[in-house]
Parts: sequence; structure tokens; C-alpha cells
Amino acid sequence: MKGVVVYDSVFGNTGQVASVIAEELEKAGHQVVLVNLRQSRNVPMDGDFLFVGSPTRIAKMTGKSKRFVKRLDAKAWGARPVAVFDTHSPYPEDPKEREKSLKWIEPGAAGRLTKLATERGLNVRSPPLRCVVKDMKGPLAEGQLEKAREYARQFAASLGM
Ligand SMILES: Cc1cc2nc3c(=O)[nH]c(=O)nc-3n(C[C@H](O)[C@H](O)[C@H](O)COP(=O)(O)O)c2cc1C
Repeated sequence: MKGVVVYDSVFGNTGQVASVIAEELEKAGHQVVLVNLRQSRNVPMDGDFLFVGSPTRIAKMTGKSKRFVKRLDAKAWGARPVAVFDTHSPYPEDPKEREKSLKWIEPGAAGRLTKLATERGLNVRSPPLRCVVKDMKGPLAEGQLEKAREYARQFAASLGM
């Protein structure tokens, strides 16, 4: 099958997640086009499935990823599987700090993209893939790329190919 992995990324962390997702999907035998929304507006839309990713910034997805989902041809994509992923800050260990931070971390870019896409009638996988960065600008925390690979492998397995 043919898949499209579209992402936005300011510091490169969501881009790294997108790259390993594309790699795993290719390993599973799919043809994949990887598109950075900061570099290209020409997203091929003839795929059989779609991944969309964004960093979580000020509790939301970026404007570019939001616009991309808003403009997706819902009729064409309604029947095809869509998966959403994001990156976000770590949960503070201190319970009080954690409590205060929750609204910035959850549902995050992934939750908001899922809501938007679902409202538009798209067939979005649940739960989304969420990867943690260690600090405001990254890098990704340990194990996050492996988590992304595993998510992509399970997604590919669910396509039944
Ligand atoms: C201006 C700014 C706002 C941010 N706001 C949030 C936030 O509300 N919640 C959160 O979990 N992380 C937040 N972060 C951390 C980002 O999630 C992190 O920079 C991002 O995952 C990195 O992805 P990227 O390298 O693909 O841009 C923020 C970072 C910046 C620079």
C-alpha cells in the first residue's frame, strides 16, 4: 500500500519521530512519502493511509498541522486509516507540579488533531502516538523512537498486509 507521513516540527524532534515511522512502514512493505509541512505544501494525497504529526505548543497543535487537517478532503479520506502523533514535554515528578502541568500536556497536539480530524469525519486511530521530549526544545526522551517504531509496526500489522 501507499502511505503519507506528514508532520510539522520546529526543532526537529517530531521530524525524527516521523522519520522512524516512515522507516518502519517501509520495512513492512509499504511505499511511503514523508512530508515536512515547513518545506513543502505539495502533499501527495493518493495514499491508502495517512500519519499526521505535530509538536505540542501552548497546549495545541501547530497552525500548519491544524490547517493541513482542516483542508484534508474528508470525502476522499473518510474511509482510509489515519493516525496522529505528537511530541510533548515530560510530566513533572512532583504531584503538585504535575497537576498544574496537565492542561499543557493533555490532550496536547495529538488529542486536538484527533478531535479535529474525527469531527471532520476521518477514520482516526485511537490512541494516538505521543512521544516525550526531555526539555522544551528536545531532545527526545529515552525509548521514544522505539515506541514510535512499535506504534508504526502495529499500525502496519492492522492494515493486514
Ligand atoms: C514556545 C513553546 C511552547 C511549548 N508549549 C508546550 C506545551 O504547552 N505543552 C507541552 O507539552 N510542551 C510544550 N512545549 C515543548 C514542545 O512540545 C517541544 O518543543 C516539542 O515537542 C519539540 O518538537 P519539535 O522539535 O518537533 O518542534 C513548548 C515548546 C515551546 C518552544
